[in-house]
Amino acid sequence: MHDIIRQLDEKRAAARLGGGQRRIDSQHKKGKLTARERIELLLDPDSFEEWDMFKEHRCNDFGMAEQLIPGDGVVTGYGTINGRLIFVFSQDFTVFGGALSEAHAEKICKIMDHALKVGAPVIGLNDSGGARIQEGVASLGGYADVFQRNVMASGVIPQISMIMGPCAGGAVYSPAMTDFIFMVKDSSYMFVTGPEVVKTVTHEEVTAEELGGAVTHNTKSGVADLAFENDVEALNMLRRLMNYLPANNREKPPVEKTNDPADRLDFSLDTLVPDNANKPYDMKELIIKMVDDCNFFELQPDYAKNIIIGFARMDGNPVGIVANQPLVLAGCLDIKSSIKAARFVRFCDAFNIPVVTLVDVPGFMPGTAQEYGGIIKHGAKLLYAYAECTVPKVTLITRKAYGGAYDVMSSKHLRGDVNFAWPSAEIAVMGPKGAVEIIFREEKNDPAKLAGREAEYKAKFANPFVAGARGFIDDVIMPNETRKRICRSLAMLRDKKLENPWRKHGNIPL
Ligand code: COA
Repeated sequence: MHDIIRQLDEKRAAARLGGGQRRIDSQHKKGKLTARERIELLLDPDSFEEWDMFKEHRCNDFGMAEQLIPGDGVVTGYGTINGRLIFVFSQDFTVFGGALSEAHAEKICKIMDHALKVGAPVIGLNDSGGARIQEGVASLGGYADVFQRNVMASGVIPQISMIMGPCAGGAVYSPAMTDFIFMVKDSSYMFVTGPEVVKTVTHEEVTAEELGGAVTHNTKSGVADLAFENDVEALNMLRRLMNYLPANNREKPPVEKTNDPADRLDFSLDTLVPDNANKPYDMKELIIKMVDDCNFFELQPDYAKNIIIGFARMDGNPVGIVANQPLVLAGCLDIKSSIKAARFVRFCDAFNIPVVTLVDVPGFMPGTAQEYGGIIKHGAKLLYAYAECTVPKVTLITRKAYGGAYDVMSSKHLRGDVNFAWPSAEIAVMGPKGAVEIIFREEKNDPAKLAGREAEYKAKFANPFVAGARGFIDDVIMPNETRKRICRSLAMLRDKKLENPWRKHGNIPL
């Protein structure tokens, strides 16, 4: 008995040491924490239950039989974040560079299977040199086993990826299929092929950081949702994000009591929209002033800034916020912003999070770049996402809602539950200037006449009452009472039930 206990202690100690002190020191020198240190920061103290600490690879080639490290480069198990169950895997770069072997993949698959069974989120902390080169196709099979589970779990349990080191080649596709990808600045990168291969194939000279660093994916590609300064900040923010999410698609998101009164008025909002319709203002000001305790968890803040997405709470209940940003491209919808918002709306819909949409949109972005890039298909994604969405949908038009973009932005016609407008709202097919130039083309050489027509069009359509008369707008509200009216609407909608017809799956334009 004594012997076996000693053996157990030794094996545990060996597993905890991973690839050894030298490699742990090297990890620290790069400003990175170890796999276990990360789990400790992520989960509630003393809540981690580790599984498969003694699991080893089964590879005999290239001298691997002599290199057996218990745990095989990934720490897996479950624990809690603010008392709520979470499954986690954390790749250990000190063990074979965190490379994925068949056994390593089996460990990840095991926790994913359990997470799906009990309905709890999976968080992956990625730090890996990719497929274990010594194992060949066995490790590729391991990746595919993980991919298949990512897809089966999609929309059933939240899946979050935190990239905290290398993530290259096939390894990128598991995070790519999860709900959110977060990255740590300067120490993480993601790409399908690295700088060397890029140089050989396309003759481009690019560093790993430029090709797939946190800044690249948070500003250029839109692959990532947030970038953090270091491991500690990243893990703290991940804990915060989890507070907005339900454990699975059958649960409602967690309510948190607030001292911020649901009927709080904010008179500063009455002057938020400038008198001049062409002057921008910051939509984030409205978001901050509207939500509980000014707390807004924004996602993709540096990508497609003409649309804002993120989580907040209203009267304690999580909501997803989608808002046009008049400060950037006048709030136009383009390819990137449509995709960004569409995916977010679908996430909220899958996980029972009501969507609050704030509209100030002059239309879709014109131009060859947009048309050749497929704005028709990509814009349709947002339309599709809103139309299929069955969670409570509350919409507020603050100013412009022109053309097809009016329809798209959670309009009444796409089953918007409650649609409000501020008195400054202008709901029309297009702006007055463009409209009269088309309708009164024959008067184009008579500026005085055209100005009169424009004033007439403005008086007729640059207001919320035409839409109100048709019931497309449920009420015109004062800006100062926005929070109160939206909180009430959400409370009324709390038990909303709406089902789409049975189908294998829809065919969203991709
Ligand atoms: N399979 C097996 N071992 C791997 C590995 C892999 N895919 N990737 C890294 N390792 C090992 C290295 O051999 C090294 O082992 P050692 O500590 O015993 O010397 C250790 O992990 C650390 O790697 P190292 O190259 O020293 O770290 P780095 O920070 O300088 O570079 C990478 C990291 C990921 C850029 C680099 O290791 C690499 O290019 N790996 C291969 C990536 C790849 O092509 N993967 C397969 C395609 S999916």
